[in-house]
Amino acid sequence: MIDNKKILELIKKKGLDKFQDDILNDLEISTSEFIKNKLKEYSNKNRIVKNDNKKISFPAKEILSEVEIKKLPKWVRDDIDNAMIIGESKNVIQTSNGKKYHLKNPLNDLSGGEWTFFLNSVINTRYTTNGDDSFAHHIRKIHPSPKPPQLMEEIIRFFTKENELVLDYFMGVGGTLLGSSLSNRKAIGIDLEKKYVEAYKEASKYLNLKEQTTIIGDSIEILKNPTLLKNEIGNNKFSLILIDPPYGDMMARPKTGEAVKNGKDTSATPFTTLSNDLGNMSWDKFRDIFKESIVNSSKLLKNKGHIVVFIKDMQPKDNELNLLHADLIRDLSSIENISYLGTKIWADQGVNLYPYGYPYAYVSNQIHQYILIFKKVQND
Ligand SMILES: C[S@@+](CC[C@H](N)C(=O)[O-])C[C@H]1O[C@@H](n2cnc3c(N)ncnc32)[C@H](O)[C@@H]1O
Repeated sequence: MIDNKKILELIKKKGLDKFQDDILNDLEISTSEFIKNKLKEYSNKNRIVKNDNKKISFPAKEILSEVEIKKLPKWVRDDIDNAMIIGESKNVIQTSNGKKYHLKNPLNDLSGGEWTFFLNSVINTRYTTNGDDSFAHHIRKIHPSPKPPQLMEEIIRFFTKENELVLDYFMGVGGTLLGSSLSNRKAIGIDLEKKYVEAYKEASKYLNLKEQTTIIGDSIEILKNPTLLKNEIGNNKFSLILIDPPYGDMMARPKTGEAVKNGKDTSATPFTTLSNDLGNMSWDKFRDIFKESIVNSSKLLKNKGHIVVFIKDMQPKDNELNLLHADLIRDLSSIENISYLGTKIWADQGVNLYPYGYPYAYVSNQIHQYILIFKKVQND
């Protein structure tokens, strides 16, 4: 329950007394919205449970063989004594807490509810950068744009099953690799810059997570002749390529706008100063090299495996639309055997807002990034 006394104390402690009424008002509105949504969610659940109860069901252990049980996700196996196969088609298994898993799911270990939740085309987050929930942000922040491991974990959990293989060939300080360890997947990461790879290892140790395989080097060259990667994965293939490439020379340019106005440091923060860093290339050159990297990396991807790419647009300027995400969708979907499945938008509510353009023009605060989703579909 909401403890008004505690909230009032907190408001006082933060010196926000003059906003007390507004804060309490906002709280009341959002609490009633939250309760309405929860009631809706639970009455849906209730309807589904009632429907399920009408269906024919069998104890799972009477229907499934030992081999079939071994292939189930861990959360189902852990409750196999109580699990029931429901429905005439015998395709769905339900655990004692009501979670359901489709026995023919070749993609992931998610329950039906979790699957549906991930299909939302917008991911809205406000991850903390302090304390235990920040996943060692204090170590990873040496990188100009580290990805939250929790976000990467969510993506990895949708596109892979436990123990499957994930590749991130622009690993930075290891958002993907940490997400892979959190979800018990195996991952390989590559980055040009040793200090990022070292920071990943330090973060992994700090978090007590399994350290994934890392390679320091130029991933574009490594992918052209992937002996190093093949030595690591043997005859196996990756189920997911999850990358957050440095797009064009955005970070390699001095900062403009608010940084200039506020007298902040306007110097460029390139990922590295190396010429083979994709972040130091023009957009056109980046597009060619990036596409080539996808052609090469997709050879190491299993059929029906996924490629997930983070990208952000740049502000439109003069006649340049700067729709980087649209350029990449066109480039990658023109590759043989690669199909574009759609986009998710990650809205990072933790990003500070600035009055860009004020009071003359609209200039958006781009707090969102695009998560582009592709699939390898090979007819063989
Ligand atoms: C946007 S950052 C990725 C951040 C990462 N997702 C994380 O969680 O820290 C892109 C990374 O690509 C690396 N990079 C750029 N060109 C590269 C290349 N040719 N080979 C390998 N890494 C490269 C940069 O050093 C940078 O760390």
